[in-house]
Amino acid sequence: MNLKVKIRLALAGAIMLVAPANAFAASNIIVHRDPGCGCCGIWAKQISQQLGRKATISDNPKRGALVQRLGVPDSLGSCHTAIIDGVVVEGHVPAADIKRFIAARPKGMTGIAVGGMPLGSPGMEVPGRKPHPYSVMAFGPGRQALFAKH
Ligand code: CU
Ligand code: CU
Repeated sequence: MNLKVKIRLALAGAIMLVAPANAFAASNIIVHRDPGCGCCGIWAKQISQQLGRKATISDNPKRGALVQRLGVPDSLGSCHTAIIDGVVVEGHVPAADIKRFIAARPKGMTGIAVGGMPLGSPGMEVPGRKPHPYSVMAFGPGRQALFAKH
């Protein structure tokens, strides 16, 4: 084995050691919820499975202050606030929309939200009850835009 091949193999080994640790750090989801709320846990479990990431739930009695600091518009408030890859995700947002937002990172937008807790949104499914239509909104400092309709 010549030196070049040896170095290449050593580098490959180093990358393999580093990659999973990085992937893990980047992929964790933190979900701040109002203590005692149940639908947040159901949403977090679904999102965790669909995004293939670990979700940690934090019972946060000061979530109101956090939401303000993160710039979630009052009209888009819900029961939980997640941080995924630095993006703010407020409420029962579907995994597919989170993926699309993270990939697109629309200019001037810092997060996405589903205001309230629409019946039939992820984590708000009630067997035998018809889902309500709802909108996913993108938001950023001083702006809001429709991101998806369900
Ligand atoms: Cu909820
Ligand atoms: Cu909840």
